[in-house]
Amino acid sequence: MASARGEFSSRFGFLMAASGSAVGLGNIWGFPTNAASNGGAAFLFTYLILAFALAYPALMAELIIGRHARANAVTALRSISPGQKSRLLATTVGFVGILTVSFILSFYAIVSGWMIAFFFDPIARILGMDGLAQWLTEDAVLRNSLFVVLFMVFTMYIISAGVKDGIEKWASRLMPSLIVILALLILYVITLPGAGDGLRAYLVPDFSRIADPALLVDAMGQAFFSLSLGVGTMLVYGSYISKKENLPTIGSLVALLDVGIAVLAGMLILPAMYVALNNGVQIFDESGGLIAGPGLIVSVLPALFNTMGAVGVFVAFAFFALMTIASLTSSISMLEVPVAYGVEHHGLERRKAAIAIGSIVTLVSLVIVFNFDPLFDLVVTYTTEVSQPLLGFSFCIFVAWIWKRNDILEEIKQGCPEVESGLFWKIWPFYVKFICPVAILVVYFQ
Ligand code: PHE
Repeated sequence: MASARGEFSSRFGFLMAASGSAVGLGNIWGFPTNAASNGGAAFLFTYLILAFALAYPALMAELIIGRHARANAVTALRSISPGQKSRLLATTVGFVGILTVSFILSFYAIVSGWMIAFFFDPIARILGMDGLAQWLTEDAVLRNSLFVVLFMVFTMYIISAGVKDGIEKWASRLMPSLIVILALLILYVITLPGAGDGLRAYLVPDFSRIADPALLVDAMGQAFFSLSLGVGTMLVYGSYISKKENLPTIGSLVALLDVGIAVLAGMLILPAMYVALNNGVQIFDESGGLIAGPGLIVSVLPALFNTMGAVGVFVAFAFFALMTIASLTSSISMLEVPVAYGVEHHGLERRKAAIAIGSIVTLVSLVIVFNFDPLFDLVVTYTTEVSQPLLGFSFCIFVAWIWKRNDILEEIKQGCPEVESGLFWKIWPFYVKFICPVAILVVYFQ
């Protein structure tokens, strides 16, 4: 089986794929609004600390387990578990991870579907098809269903093609485009009247908020979701990294790219919101907070683009292209988790596994679309606020308490022979053993 496994062909390919997984709706949509409603730069500051102190060590745990085992999440966790009890735990954690990531994908695909619909809206308007444009931007079960299916078909198509010809190829095309579009949008929006107020709301810290438990919980949830942790995604991507790679270095590059793009996204979204305010668009909700969540992306920003005249059509096009790319490079990493399991554990052919599992996830998405109010928030809450932190905690337990320290060292040494004398090995083992699990639990029980 091992010889049939894929591998990323270059460091660049891995970095694009892993940062593509990490950079998603969580960065461009979640992070900026979380920051704005949690004391601006005070949130940014806490987020940076938590991302590097807690999320980076957890990311390393997944990458190391993955590359060592060269297998899907269930098989990988079982392979580092010495006893019967720990193997049972491994199977459970692996499965819960696979289920969790599949449910995350089921709601993520709905939101991504909206992004594609809004991406087609400016095209329809340029072509003078106003009726179609209106249909594309109106929330309706039929529209949502069609675009969920379209998005999932793209996702399945890429995953069917495998690691190198699917994930790596597409991420290496899409991620550089994402960075260019983001930079161009920032440069444009920042010149508009009102943008300065947005930057101030984002970058001037309100330090009275820093010890606020809500801020801590939000910042940690954001960091874990944003780095795609706990659900086996990074483990599976890690399993495709060459043994010649230096893991601590590429892990930190992924974390830096993710955090960097989140911080940049804040420099787009908040100025854009205040430009919208300047143009007469409502940006605060009844309780006086900034409008976040779906309202921000599908009503505030489109309203802003509408006030920009002809340029607005292009800005809308670029913005929703950005959102669609960010979603797609994340969704493929989600689907890869169950598919890798199906292929390796059940001997399924990759294409069949991608289509079968992708179709099941699409069906779950459709059930949510048809029962949006009772189900959507429920699925989001259970997967991201309950399951993901607990799984992150379990991964730390596996790597630090169950797996043999020497095996870990041997694994990292491949590609990084000097690790033992470096800073990483002085700090990281202690961190994942004590600080990470305790901190995750403390924040969880807040
Ligand atoms: N990191 C992605 C984002 O920020 C979401 C994600 C979660 C991707 C879990 C994979 C696994 O949007």
